[in-house]
Amino acid sequence: MKKTVFSGMRPTGKLHLGHWVGALSSWVELQKKYDCVFGIVDWHALMGEYEQSKEISQNILDMAIDWMACGIDPQKSIVFVQSQVPEHLELQMILSCITPLGWLERNPTYKEQLREIKTRDLQTYAFLGYPVLQAADILLYKANAVPIGEDQLPHIELTREIARRFNHIYKTDFFTDCEAILTKTPRLLGLDGRKMSKSYQNAINLSDTEEAIRKKVKNMFTDPKRVKRSDPGHPDECNLFNYYEVFAPERAKEVRHWCTKAEKGCTDCKMILADVLVEYLKPIREKRSKFEKNHDHIRDVLEDGRKKAQNIAQKTIAEIKEVIF
Ligand code: TRP
Ligand code: SF4
Repeated sequence: MKKTVFSGMRPTGKLHLGHWVGALSSWVELQKKYDCVFGIVDWHALMGEYEQSKEISQNILDMAIDWMACGIDPQKSIVFVQSQVPEHLELQMILSCITPLGWLERNPTYKEQLREIKTRDLQTYAFLGYPVLQAADILLYKANAVPIGEDQLPHIELTREIARRFNHIYKTDFFTDCEAILTKTPRLLGLDGRKMSKSYQNAINLSDTEEAIRKKVKNMFTDPKRVKRSDPGHPDECNLFNYYEVFAPERAKEVRHWCTKAEKGCTDCKMILADVLVEYLKPIREKRSKFEKNHDHIRDVLEDGRKKAQNIAQKTIAEIKEVIF
């Protein structure tokens, strides 16, 4: 029997290179060995972006298109929209009965977001319970493994603690522990050297046109110490060099050479990187535009995913009620 993987992403906008490097590329690989369930977690998006709720339905379609263009295969994996499977909310309710408030209030990811995000009021009841819904997502499918970024580790830890508390309170071994699968890929920073994020407008999107990619690369920050063309550069202090390491590792040596010997200027270096990225993203872009033309097909895929997901979810909820009542 194959083990089950669950992961989710919030539909908050177009996906970018960071999503590919940090998550999707490993999801695609995991499909080979696991039964995978991938959720477009729109309730989680609403928790943060409840004032831009009208954008969510378009973002869901875009996300499904981006996923499939990247190689998420609905023939192999279950791809579905969280709000279409109401059992997620049912399990969230059940788990919230047994989750101590202190666990949520101490959650470092929660505290950081309250501190960092000033443009939205996140002091809500739902947002405090964000990890409880995430635990429900995972436990509903009895997932054994959850691929995530490092920032999500506290949430997986909480999922395990909630599951253990459930088992303890109801004297059962119903839930098994899930483990996190951390992506090993080096962190890819945005065009300006900060974290790549839609809100910083420093991302290269998977859906960007060739022209958009070239324009963005042209404006990338480079080694601040390399002022003149004749100055030797410092690849390890240049964010652009990191892109070579991630997307064209076989060229990194040659780039290091021309940079430190001042044999090429940053303008040339950028033009070559732009070519690399345009080529790298080409298959994704082509598949994307094919799916883009057929929204009915995307809706069919999501409906099929809903059925499969709900099939599992309904069984789990029935079993859980059996345990509790
Ligand atoms: N909180 C996750 C994030 O922002 C998204 C998410 C929701 C998730 N439910 C999940 C990830 C379940 C893994 C498993 O990245
Ligand atoms: Fe960065 Fe390339 Fe310029 Fe070197 S030549 S500083 S690697 S952009």
